Amino acid sequence: MVERYAKAAEAIRNAASVIAVTGAGASVESGIPDFRSPGGLWERFPPEEYATIEAYVSDPDRVWALWRDLGKMFRECTPNPGHHALAELEGLGCLRGVITQNIDGLHQAAGNHHVVEYHGNASRLVCLSCKRRMPLDTGREYTHAPLCDCGGLMKPDVVLFGEVIPVYAQMESQNLAREADVVIVVGTSATVYPAAEIPALAKRHGAYIIECNLEPTDFTPYITDAFLQGPAGKTLPYLLDTVRG
Ligand code: APR
Repeated sequence: MVERYAKAAEAIRNAASVIAVTGAGASVESGIPDFRSPGGLWERFPPEEYATIEAYVSDPDRVWALWRDLGKMFRECTPNPGHHALAELEGLGCLRGVITQNIDGLHQAAGNHHVVEYHGNASRLVCLSCKRRMPLDTGREYTHAPLCDCGGLMKPDVVLFGEVIPVYAQMESQNLAREADVVIVVGTSATVYPAAEIPALAKRHGAYIIECNLEPTDFTPYITDAFLQGPAGKTLPYLLDTVRG
């Protein structure tokens, strides 16, 4: 296992461009459950009832209750050692950017500056009518789905199933993936597209793929070059220390 870290660290040190692609597993040690592990969010809140744009528009108050509670949870969570390790890699000049599927803002809170929020951010609201965006008012209770000043229904500024990925996030992620020499894939089940296409695109352009996860995923046998098994709060700091030498 030590040899895997040494090879992964050498690839990072020799790379002109390193990016990270993260999923919910990167935030589990901050207290935010992931979606598909046993006990995950989708086990408690079936996504077809709580995470589609159709469900939100047809019963905003019911669906809003989940996102309001998630927003509260996110506000109480802080970055874990895995987030901090990615921020320190950026500080060393060894990480060009983070493409995250997560909506919790923890990479920015840890100190990463170039973060592509592929599925948006739950700390913002967006109006379905006029597209106005505004921060979630942390002092407000929001007992009902919020309405915009224009009268339109507002929703969390996250990509629900049935919605498209923001154009900027798509374009920036594809550019970063094409130019990456190394991709550090952290805590994703590699099951949701188009996000799961990003590491595969980088691989097709010659990138070395490092995967940090508790267990193998669909990526592991096909595109992963170095599989670092374990919790991200342990694997990423160890990888950082190995890069430092
Ligand atoms: N460290 C590393 N990996 C972990 C940890 C941990 N501490 N805890 C869980 N994992 C791994 C799991 O083994 C799993 O492979 O993280 C992955 C989490 O998978 P999902 O729950 O499917 O989350 P994610 O891949 O981010 O889901 C993608 O699906 O529902 C949508 O929009 C949602 O962004 C989300 C997308």
